[in-house]
Amino acid sequence: RDGGELRVFVDTDELSTDLADYIAELSEASVKERGVFAIALSGGSLISLMGKLCEAPYNKTVDWAKWYIFWVDERVVAKNHVDSNYKLTKDGLLSKVPVVPSHVHSINDTVSAEKAAADYEFVLRQLVRTRVVSVSDISDCPKFDLILLGMGPDGHVASLFPNHSVLDEKKEWVTFITDSPKSPPERITFTLPVINSASNVAVVVTGSSKADAVHTVLDMVETESPLPAKLVQPTKGKLVWFLDSAAASKLESI
Ligand code: 6PG
Repeated sequence: RDGGELRVFVDTDELSTDLADYIAELSEASVKERGVFAIALSGGSLISLMGKLCEAPYNKTVDWAKWYIFWVDERVVAKNHVDSNYKLTKDGLLSKVPVVPSHVHSINDTVSAEKAAADYEFVLRQLVRTRVVSVSDISDCPKFDLILLGMGPDGHVASLFPNHSVLDEKKEWVTFITDSPKSPPERITFTLPVINSASNVAVVVTGSSKADAVHTVLDMVETESPLPAKLVQPTKGKLVWFLDSAAASKLESI
């Protein structure tokens, strides 16, 4: 299908088993090919859906020391704040597996959103220069081995919300917003060019509150302006949608 591969599961348990397999396989392939695995994570339910990676066999078989970890987006709050995507990921995943602390590229929480975005992009540019993160062969953009996204009921991905001007950003890799319709208002986020330059992008969506947006995006329903999730179209990479049956319940095209 044009909009990427679609994987629909009876429940979140089956979904999370397949998601763990998918991530472990991409990690193995990338470590074999390039010696490292550069992955960017989102917040929300995604982290608990990745939870099986902390259990056998993955906790032992995945080459955690080769992981370089980034965030697709972050709320501009302290790292120990309940709204922090870093905290969510640390508590739910990173504290349970042997990742290398210096490979964990969290976002500076002691500066303004603007400065945090600039600092994060600077770090990313250095890691692209040293090829810890690959580079796209059609632009100068980072080519992550895997970018994992959730999707909100409004069709947002990362901190790219419907009708927001950052959807048009072509130059910056990382940008910031101060008017998020979902609290907290200040966020930093990867831009669409970065998301669409990845080798692999997975959109992981569960629950009936997302069924309308899933239908709109995947059944190609015409809307005045496209939902952000519809703009996730990797130029050369592979796109996979992971849905549970509730999120897929309004799909016509399966
Ligand atoms: C945020 C959330 C948000 C979330 C999606 C999907 O930053 O406000 O993290 O972007 O990822 O709304 O969330 P769920 O998977 O938890 O429904």
